[in-house]
Amino acid sequence: MSVIDDIKGQLDIVAIVGERVPLTKAGRNFKASCPFHTERTPSFYVFPERGTWRCFGACATGGDLFSFLQRAENITFAEALRRLADRAGVTLPTPRVAAQEEQTHRVLFDLNQEAADYFHRILAYSPAGEQTLRYLASRGISRESITRFQLGLSPKGWEILKNHLRDRGYGEVDILQAGLLVSREEGGTYDRFRERLMFPIRDAKGRHIGFGARSLDDSLPKYMNSPQSPVFDKSGVLYALDAAQEEIRASGQAVIVEGYMDALQAHQSGFTNVVAAMGTSLTERQVGLLKGLAIQFLLALDPDAAGEAATRRSLEGAWNIFQRVGVAAAGVGVLHPKDELPDLRIISLPSGKDPDELIRQEPEEWLRRVAAATPILDYLFSWEASRPEAATPAGKQAIVERLFPLISALKNPFEQSRNFHRLAEALGVPERDLEAAIGRPGARGSRGGRTRTPQATASALQAPEGDTLEEHLLALVLRWPDLLPTALETVDLCSDHFQRPENVEAWRVLSEHGSSEALFDVSDPTLQAHSQRLLGLPLPSLTPEERRRAILETARRLDERYIKRLNEEAIEAVARLPQEIVSSDAAFVAATTERSHRLKELHEQGRWGRWRKEALEKERK
Ligand code: UTP
Ligand code: MN
Repeated sequence: MSVIDDIKGQLDIVAIVGERVPLTKAGRNFKASCPFHTERTPSFYVFPERGTWRCFGACATGGDLFSFLQRAENITFAEALRRLADRAGVTLPTPRVAAQEEQTHRVLFDLNQEAADYFHRILAYSPAGEQTLRYLASRGISRESITRFQLGLSPKGWEILKNHLRDRGYGEVDILQAGLLVSREEGGTYDRFRERLMFPIRDAKGRHIGFGARSLDDSLPKYMNSPQSPVFDKSGVLYALDAAQEEIRASGQAVIVEGYMDALQAHQSGFTNVVAAMGTSLTERQVGLLKGLAIQFLLALDPDAAGEAATRRSLEGAWNIFQRVGVAAAGVGVLHPKDELPDLRIISLPSGKDPDELIRQEPEEWLRRVAAATPILDYLFSWEASRPEAATPAGKQAIVERLFPLISALKNPFEQSRNFHRLAEALGVPERDLEAAIGRPGARGSRGGRTRTPQATASALQAPEGDTLEEHLLALVLRWPDLLPTALETVDLCSDHFQRPENVEAWRVLSEHGSSEALFDVSDPTLQAHSQRLLGLPLPSLTPEERRRAILETARRLDERYIKRLNEEAIEAVARLPQEIVSSDAAFVAATTERSHRLKELHEQGRWGRWRKEALEKERK
């Protein structure tokens, strides 16, 4: 949710808290007497670098700018959001716009579906389709696949589809917006797709969003796709995902091929965890569609492109994307506990054959190659090592500089170490020389762990949107609302466990109402939009027992993180104090240290949540 980040970026927490509480500087942070309870020793801290505040005293709460204002002014999240947005000069979305958008989207889905039905009828049931049916048969595509993937044929004229859709009551403007028409410069419109084999494209929810259209003579381009529209963006779509997602979930494995025909042939032959990236190199949004569904991702690489630098770059890109979304894929860890890191591999194909041909001619060979897929770093290492430059010192240096960031971005130090070793092996140099080549002697550190380059670490840790763990938990209870009561009772999370303001608010509303309805209240469009997004997050299909376990496990991880954060803040609050304050505040330091030990103890005994509830109740009396 970028509005919230926008607002936080514009405003200074010290200034805003400082308007209500007299802050004094304490090292890099600020402190004051807690405004939320009466105390003699100041134990309220503001951490400008984190953008957070915390009271280490009796009320033991903390949060960010939003929660501070909510408490200080006793207002709702929506109200705090409105005031802070106002102050930051950030525009909030209004509910009317959201509803309108929803409405136009529905029209575009309907139009694409209507067109798909029409094209399919022409192919399957009209004389005009006979030749194309013969062509499909010659390529080994069965009637069943034609039906299942709703293949079609667009008619020959210039306004046939348009007239058909208008007869059905749709307006020209909408048909144009769906990408089914092209407008003429001199005015007027005509059918975009004419005499082409039509592949309807559906999103993960099965909604029709666009088309791929193959030429049937040798006219160019060979494929045309729907243009960008509010519901279709090629870089965020995987063909056949709607048909493949169940098997991808069940097997934990997703195979990504290039072409429509490849995906079609794979599904027809029973390899139903296959999706097509539609000819482009894999994008972050495409990977985003698969995260949470699979733990292993296999890319089938066109053998003729495999040697090209562009392919190498796109593989490096894919690898980086997977590192970035890795945290999210680890959410599947509930199902696949042994394999927490996303595993990206390359399927190499025999020269001159795409998956379509290979599957049709030698299905066992396809299976063999899928099983023998190479981990992507190994693939990149041997690819680089096989190039002539790899024989010269300067070439080796260049290769190391390019590949080292990929290794240092790995989150697991053992994986880093293993791959560092492999790179040395592939290039035929001792590991010591490799360290020298990185220009950082001793970069591996004394205990064999390797420091990361700061940039790589930052990008690896940055979740593109929101907070994965928090949102995973919320998505689970939104998807399976019958679990909410159990979750609220057994999990013992308070809104302090959440850090992102929109998630804090979502959890607060959920626990207050005991149901998710209030989240979709139109009077709070920001929360409503956020809840919609949470509801749309991909989740693995789980049995009721697995769902319960998933909730408990995610809550446990949130709890762990919370305790860790409390401790870090306590340490930071104490450690950064100038010496004279530490001695004058000995009681505070001792109390903070003791509290942090006690928390850890309680957490380890699993009694933290109950203890906190009791403490809060005592305080209220
Ligand atoms: P291919 O040319 O390999 O297509 O392009 P294909 O699916 O194997 O089709 P056949 O076997 O020749 O009939 C791979 C993918 O690249 C995209 C399409 O998604 C295609 O499926 N592409 C290709 C385009 O978008 N435009 C083009 O002009 C060509
Ligand atoms: Mn092909």
